[in-house]
Amino acid sequence: MISLLVVYGTGEGQTEKVASRIAEVLRERGHDATTVNAGDPPADLDVSAYDAVLVGASIHAGKHQEAVRTFVESARDTLAARPTAFFQVSLTSSRDDEEAAAQAATYVEEFVDATGWHPDRIGLFGGALRYSEYGFFKRLLMRQIVKKTMPEVDGSEDVEFTDWDEVEAFAADVAAFVEGRLGVVPPSADGVTES
Ligand SMILES: Cc1cc2nc3c(=O)[nH]c(=O)nc-3n(C[C@H](O)[C@H](O)[C@H](O)COP(=O)(O)O)c2cc1C
Repeated sequence: MISLLVVYGTGEGQTEKVASRIAEVLRERGHDATTVNAGDPPADLDVSAYDAVLVGASIHAGKHQEAVRTFVESARDTLAARPTAFFQVSLTSSRDDEEAAAQAATYVEEFVDATGWHPDRIGLFGGALRYSEYGFFKRLLMRQIVKKTMPEVDGSEDVEFTDWDEVEAFAADVAAFVEGRLGVVPPSADGVTES
């Protein structure tokens, strides 16, 4: 069994939801997965106690959560010594065009440049719009952005763009990568015979 730490930053909870789904997939595969909110980490968090680490953050006003950046900078040497993955949740990745793909990649590049951490795997996921949870100005701002960048989207209701099949495929790919690196057979595969 491999122990994996999933650290995430979140504004309105979408990245937390993605982190939870990733952890579920890892557990279904027979591994031990722990999720930690970078904004409220346990005082005794010991990153070096985990075999592999996944870090997730969402984009707000062109930036990832400061707490995620701080976590990565403080744990950089530990991260460099084990298999790692980064996942990013944004409105940009909800769009299906080249400009959006380039923008999402630029967010990641800026994060890698700023932190000096080079994850082995990267996942880019569409986020969600939770107008019902935003205050007046945030709601107005997000409606304006959506009207400009995604005119086909109804700006009056909460909407989730996250493709959960993509999230699950990413988690499975990271698990397979880590298993390969550590030479571990997934426990869920123990005793499985093909008929
Ligand atoms: C105030 C605000 C600013 C945002 N700015 C950006 C942005 O600059 N680029 C982007 O791609 N998405 C942006 N988003 C969309 C978020 O990344 C998306 O809503 C995501 O689901 C948020 O995840 P979270 O709830 O985990 O923070 C913004 C969202 C809000 C509420």
